[in-house]
Amino acid sequence: MFDLDSILRSNIKALVPYSSARDEYKGKEGIFLDANENAYGSPLDNDFNRYPDPLQLELKEKLSAIKGLPVENIFLGNGSDEAIDILFRAVCKPGTDKVIVCPPTYGMYEVAAQINDVEVVKVPLLPETFQLDIQGILRAMDKTTKLIFICCPNNPTGNGVKWHDVKSILEHFEGLVVVDEAYINFASYRSLVPELLNYPNLVILQTLSKAWGMAGLRVGMAFAGAPVIDVLNRIKPPYNINIASQHLALEALDNMDTVNRWIKTIVEERKKLAESLSALSFVQKVYPSEANFLLVKMKEPKKVYDYLSEKQIVVRDRSKMTLCEGCLRITVGTEEENKKLILALKELS
Ligand SMILES: Cc1ncc(COP(=O)(O)O)c(C=O)c1O
Repeated sequence: MFDLDSILRSNIKALVPYSSARDEYKGKEGIFLDANENAYGSPLDNDFNRYPDPLQLELKEKLSAIKGLPVENIFLGNGSDEAIDILFRAVCKPGTDKVIVCPPTYGMYEVAAQINDVEVVKVPLLPETFQLDIQGILRAMDKTTKLIFICCPNNPTGNGVKWHDVKSILEHFEGLVVVDEAYINFASYRSLVPELLNYPNLVILQTLSKAWGMAGLRVGMAFAGAPVIDVLNRIKPPYNINIASQHLALEALDNMDTVNRWIKTIVEERKKLAESLSALSFVQKVYPSEANFLLVKMKEPKKVYDYLSEKQIVVRDRSKMTLCEGCLRITVGTEEENKKLILALKELS
């Protein structure tokens, strides 16, 4: 049985969160002499002279309508990277606790663990299929394991993992299972968001950085049961999403049609790109992808990487990562960019 209280760090349980001026008075009208702001305004002639809403209610209400999730199940972070860090701070006692990650996967889980002095237990994905080694994960978890990270679709392999496997972890693990859905909008399967009702130990990460095209604004989301969200809100810096990002994200969320069109095009381009790459003599394998990138195995990845760099086409060399020997990770670009990439690679072969 999952019991949040039993996994929270004692300092977090005892924490009295910072109470900001905007927490103490929530009205919108009035003469605001409570936050030591500049009452004359901002040089940019907008409301940047004021601190932002610490709980980003307006933005969350809009996301709530889009995601079909109540506001109390939504946490917003300065990118989902901030949510990852705060999860560590909530439940992992430095020097004592552990987390499980399944490489090859997104590197920030391990970096956040190192920053927080938390041991990382690595249970690699199964070779070639990149599915979870479920027996390995079940064997690796113990009383000091507080978080298990599952990236789905996974970066850099691009595949989704089986729901059956995630479910079995959720059912056997007493810590938090963090499913990172940064690339879910490009996938052929649905988000696990509806499962939040069934699993109080499930945390889902999503972001406005990928399909929504707003990586520069730094808005990430964590969805979970209200008690988990409440803990994350207590730990976060009071004004973690700046006022410009809140305004611009709100405005951007009105453009769902454009975003859906992009997603459709990117998925089509991904298929075309995979076919063109597979036809190249030096490409050994293009792994199936549910994301906006392709993992491509080739004979001499370093040579190809350097050749493309010289042509100012920048891809990611992932050949040093576990199970990714010989692999470059290539983001799906615009139709024109993809054509230029393929043309350059044809010249090389
Ligand atoms: C799997 C995964 N999760 C999270 C992130 C970071 O997202 P954000 O920009 O919201 O911090 C990335 C970025 O590449 C990612 O690949």
